[in-house]
Amino acid sequence: MTDSYRADFQILEGDALIYFDNACQTLRPKQVLSAMNEYYEQYPACGGRSMHRLAARVSQQVDQARARIARFIDARDKKEIVFTRNTTEGINLVAHSLGLRAGDVVITSDKEHNSNLIPWQVLQQKLGIKHVIVATDQDGLLDLEAYQHALTQGVALVSMGYVSNLDGVAQPVERIIQLAHAAGAKVLLDGAQAVPHHKLSVTQLDVDFLAFSGHKMLGPSGIGVLYGKSQLLAELEPFLVGGDTVAFSTYTSHEFLAAPEKFEAGLQDYAGIIGLGAAVAYLEQVGFDAIVARELELNQFLTKELTTIKGLHLIGPQDPSLRSGIISFYVDGKDHHKIALMLDEVAGICVRSGQHCVHSWFHDRRLAGSVRASVYFYNTLAEAEVFVTQLRKVLSVL
Ligand code: ALA
Repeated sequence: MTDSYRADFQILEGDALIYFDNACQTLRPKQVLSAMNEYYEQYPACGGRSMHRLAARVSQQVDQARARIARFIDARDKKEIVFTRNTTEGINLVAHSLGLRAGDVVITSDKEHNSNLIPWQVLQQKLGIKHVIVATDQDGLLDLEAYQHALTQGVALVSMGYVSNLDGVAQPVERIIQLAHAAGAKVLLDGAQAVPHHKLSVTQLDVDFLAFSGHKMLGPSGIGVLYGKSQLLAELEPFLVGGDTVAFSTYTSHEFLAAPEKFEAGLQDYAGIIGLGAAVAYLEQVGFDAIVARELELNQFLTKELTTIKGLHLIGPQDPSLRSGIISFYVDGKDHHKIALMLDEVAGICVRSGQHCVHSWFHDRRLAGSVRASVYFYNTLAEAEVFVTQLRKVLSVL
């Protein structure tokens, strides 16, 4: 059903390429590229500053994109949408703006992307916060008992990946948030792999902060979003300061603007913001029912086929319905990078190999890495069939 959308992705023309690296970056449809080109060609000006017509159009388009993104994640107010460069910057913004002090506890899981690990390690070294890591089980789910135990220690923040880029497993975030709030802690979700793949309501989740990236949801690279509850954004100190963050300044003082402007320092990536707005409009048109259905169909097929390969180990649960669009695996005695390189060489299949920025998890389990195929709604069963055939061939010669 979603095959008709393939025509919007020029790179898929002719079926010479099988793009299974969507967890890293998705492809971009022509509608996103046109929206960005339109900015550069027709109104390449600054928003929120100059008074002329081009500037007014930029401000209006940025405002529209902000409002659309707010509706997309069911935020109460467009002012709760802060533009960042990516998920990593959103997490860093919270880490550096929350006013954490020595002894404050921050909880993460043992399966975090470096984006949600390194900021806490650095604050532990610099400020003396306490970073507590709660284990996940065989199926990649947070050990809720251990989590509840950790929450008794006066926790300031729980910062958790919603859907893992390693195995595609979604954490029970509703429960994680309820428990954190009951213990007086705030919750930041890394939504990079969740927001592009299923409907999500920040209001229903009652999450305090949600960070995500444009490049994993058909949008441009270099643009991301931090959602924050209005009241919390009002309390937070800006992390990057300077141009456009203030209403007024003297040689010795300044007055910050309200959120989101106080967090959006310097000239913004207007084309990126407008492109992300167009990406969200496109995703709304495709619809999450269709996205989820296609990812499941492909993951079911790939899981069934791959689990018949001798020596192949899937990372995460065997049930494909628990792994979103991700199939991550390693094969006894075979090098993951060589598998990826050969798939590209012989059949134009793009997958990611290595430790996927989750070095800590691989290090702990003494695993060298994995091959990760990650699908999206424009991928087809025919592509999945070619992938399985070519993978078998590659493994037979490696
Ligand atoms: N976090 C991205 C990935 O997993 C880069 O590929």
